[in-house]
Amino acid sequence: MPLEGLDGKVVVVSGVGPGLGQAIAVRSARAGADVVLAARTEARLDEVAEQVTRLGRKAVPVPTDIRDDEAARRLVDTALGTFGRVDALVHNAFAVPPITDLLDVDLDQVRKGFETNVLAALRLTRLFTPGLEQSRGSVVMINSAVLRHSRRTFGAYKMAKASLLALAQSLATELGPRGIRVNSVAPGYIWADSLQWYFEYLAGQRGVDPQQVYDETAATIDLRKLPEPDEIADAVVFLASGLARAVTGQCLDVNGGEYHH
Ligand SMILES: NC(=O)c1ccc[n+]([C@@H]2O[C@H](COP(=O)([O-])OP(=O)(O)OC[C@H]3O[C@@H](n4cnc5c(N)ncnc54)[C@H](OP(=O)(O)O)[C@@H]3O)[C@@H](O)[C@H]2O)c1
Repeated sequence: MPLEGLDGKVVVVSGVGPGLGQAIAVRSARAGADVVLAARTEARLDEVAEQVTRLGRKAVPVPTDIRDDEAARRLVDTALGTFGRVDALVHNAFAVPPITDLLDVDLDQVRKGFETNVLAALRLTRLFTPGLEQSRGSVVMINSAVLRHSRRTFGAYKMAKASLLALAQSLATELGPRGIRVNSVAPGYIWADSLQWYFEYLAGQRGVDPQQVYDETAATIDLRKLPEPDEIADAVVFLASGLARAVTGQCLDVNGGEYHH
């Protein structure tokens, strides 16, 4: 990113998984950032850290369960202790909610999902606020195109993500006067392992080629192409960077035009 990327910045990614989380960490490093990597699976953090290091940036893996207050505090201390600054916090982690009609859904499971999908995002933002205030940094919450539809069985997921959006917007109002921006990115389809596997499954059920499932899906999207993790991660990099210095309280839909907002 020649214009203005994340050179010399420090990005914390909470929820580094094999899909978007990894892409956000690696694309941030490509844009010049050092990264702090948080999730529960240490082996994956190490693997992503190696990718970051190969790009000539520093990576600090911090095994963390973001639902745990003490672990979250350790994450903040490690980030600030290592780099002396934090410029962006990206909340990517999520707990897969029950995919069931709301009339049947187990309320305990819905409640549990909120711990990771909403409250942990608030916890981390609070803990990183002093550091972000110093750097005039920003927060990016990863949301979902589920915001834009109300399909059956997606109710619990939509409740969680709608709440996360409300959280991001209200935090933008609270933290704006302290120089901290808070934005959201809402992906739709993400063309990564889990969706590829699912399309193969659907194709198998129908006795067609997986490419046919892809083409049928892509036909519903303006750009006729399912967004890849790097393409979504670049929108996160943009919002975390100074290029978005006047952008806060917004949700950027990165869905190839599947929904207009
Ligand atoms: N995949 C899609 O098609 C899609 C579509 C629209 C929006 N999104 C959104 O995009 C984001 C990323 O989705 P993804 O599927 O690509 O996931 P991902 O980045 O591959 O992985 C997310 C990671 O979050 C971590 N996590 C979950 N609970 C945690 C906890 N309590 N503490 C710390 N880390 C935790 C998990 O790692 P550990 O188990 O190691 O902790 C998981 O691997 C999510 O917010 C999702 O809602 C996804």
